[in-house]
Amino acid sequence: MSPRILYTTLLIGALAFAGGCTKSEPESSSAQVADAVQSKSPGDKQQAQAAPEPGVDYHSFANTDDFLVKHVDLDLEVHFDRKVIEGEAKLQLERLTDQKNPLVLDTRDLHIESVRAGHGSQLQPVKFTLGKTDPHLGTPLSIELPQNATTVAIRYSTSPDASGVQWLEPQQTAGGDFPFLFTQAQAIHARSFIPLQDSPKVRMTYNATIRTPPELRAVMSANNDPQAAKDGVYEFSMPQPIPSYLIALAVGDLDFKPMGERTGVYAEPELLDAAAAEFEDTESMLEATEKVYGPYRWDRYDLLILPPSFPFGGMENPRLSFITPTVIAGDKSLVALIAHELAHSWSGNLVTNASWRDLWLNEGFTTYLTNRIMQNIYGDERYRMEMALGYDDLEADLADREDRDEIMAIDLRGRDPDDVFSNIPYEKGSLFLYELEQKIGREAFDQFLLDYFNHFSFESITTEDFLAYLQQTLLQQYPQQLDEARIRQWIYEPGIPEGAPHPRSDAFTKLDPLRDQWLGGEIAAADIDTGDWTFHQWKYFLDGMPEKLSESQLRELDSAFGLTDSKNNEIAFSWLMIAVRNDYQPAFARLEDFLTSIGRNKFLRPLYRNLVDSGKQEMAVRIFEEAKAGYHPLTVKVNSRVIYGPDAS
Ligand code: BES
Ligand code: ZN
Repeated sequence: MSPRILYTTLLIGALAFAGGCTKSEPESSSAQVADAVQSKSPGDKQQAQAAPEPGVDYHSFANTDDFLVKHVDLDLEVHFDRKVIEGEAKLQLERLTDQKNPLVLDTRDLHIESVRAGHGSQLQPVKFTLGKTDPHLGTPLSIELPQNATTVAIRYSTSPDASGVQWLEPQQTAGGDFPFLFTQAQAIHARSFIPLQDSPKVRMTYNATIRTPPELRAVMSANNDPQAAKDGVYEFSMPQPIPSYLIALAVGDLDFKPMGERTGVYAEPELLDAAAAEFEDTESMLEATEKVYGPYRWDRYDLLILPPSFPFGGMENPRLSFITPTVIAGDKSLVALIAHELAHSWSGNLVTNASWRDLWLNEGFTTYLTNRIMQNIYGDERYRMEMALGYDDLEADLADREDRDEIMAIDLRGRDPDDVFSNIPYEKGSLFLYELEQKIGREAFDQFLLDYFNHFSFESITTEDFLAYLQQTLLQQYPQQLDEARIRQWIYEPGIPEGAPHPRSDAFTKLDPLRDQWLGGEIAAADIDTGDWTFHQWKYFLDGMPEKLSESQLRELDSAFGLTDSKNNEIAFSWLMIAVRNDYQPAFARLEDFLTSIGRNKFLRPLYRNLVDSGKQEMAVRIFEEAKAGYHPLTVKVNSRVIYGPDAS
């Protein structure tokens, strides 16, 4: 354990137990836990007034000042008939104090059958209690440990409604014949399928035995073996320590196709060839990233293509990124997603945010790296377009967010991280790093990032750890170019600091006069030569349309460019946003199809929001209720809040 983490955990210990808890009475231990837990609870006014404490994880009940989980052995069986994962999680603990405090773990909707604890293989049944359930955080599990116990074995089963698991019927898959299951643990959903310390500041290795129906294959964020016999019993190990949000499992009718020496794709057989072709540049991306930021530390890098209900574009599960099939556009136009998930192998998985307040350390660095990878593989023009679109996304987000949510080191106390998801940690974080690059030069900045990844490798760090590192490095080396006050402004204040870089692309700016001329009636849509437009240009062209367009303008655009029928999901999304706010009926069948067949929240949330805001709540409700059964639990949660208001669960 690094001294940094030790310091942080001691600090949390001091905070959690300040205020009268005596540490030496075993009988009062659960009361102490209750107090510690209470002090993190969302409604706590005192905490809401003071600034959040760096390194404190307000989204975990775990008493990480007393214990650290170092390793997990899972033995789990997947029951598709009951939608239940059942089995045992055996945790290996490091004790940090000689206190007799119970071990407190995070759970959500888990049924705990029994708990045994002890040393090595000598395990005895022990007492455990489930505490009060918090709507955002789940339920703390307190386990009374015998003195010196370092092993805890928990037999448990998940709920069919587990927030981090989606169970799919065969008809929701590409093949249509087999069921499918996948987990999505980030941010705080690992606890819905494994009882553990569900905090990104805790890193653990894991082994797993996964039992499935014999016709299906299981894969994990671990050492997958494409050659493993399909027999319903799969063994995994993840030898590098990772935070719990990177533990991932998927089970389905999965085949494998190699793309390069270290890269390949897992997908349903129906999608395998298309996916391997779309993402064939993955190996070059991996090599390009290594050249600048140091060796890839995770052995293989494979992709898993999920069914379309996957709620994200991608998820950087180590060794096996989970990817939405909605980016298989046929022309590699959306492969920045792969560069992004790959980049997390450095920013995020190697150097990890210590709490969800520090998410920008994961996503901002990754967005910056993504742009660099895209430039390396696809050239300057693509680089500038990707950056310019990112900047526009950031501006759009800044336009409708409260000040407190524009801060990179965001205060999430009392809030569900799923509700606060935005472009700020991504695009503001990336723009900040781009400014640093501009100020000190690319070569020096690359060296800084390489050193940063090496310095903090396999550690979880806070925003303040980053800042301290910056003070010891760049701020000393470049006193003329850099200024600490401005860096603090980027991190701790809303908005974009004045004079920040504003990435633009000529390929975009040349479209502005065309759009204007068409809007002014000077040219017809059919006269615009769109033959060589890339997806990025379409997106820029459409997203730059005014709020209101007339019925005849909409019809003209649609008939000239076939937008309602666009096969590119990003273009379709931009067009459907226009269609909804202008009540363009001819696109509504496509809208309904889009909303019911895709689960990616980047698309669904704005579309539902747009429907509600433009007075079509009834339609939103009808489509949502129809589609709900096929949505991921997260998609149901965030969109019911959009449609029915913040109190909907
Ligand atoms: N790690 C994120 C997804 C995530 C973030 C899940 C926070 C839960 C909480 C993943 O790497 C990601 O950023 N996905 C984006 C990719 C896009 C920015 C290229 C997505 O899914 O859209
Ligand atoms: Zn990401």
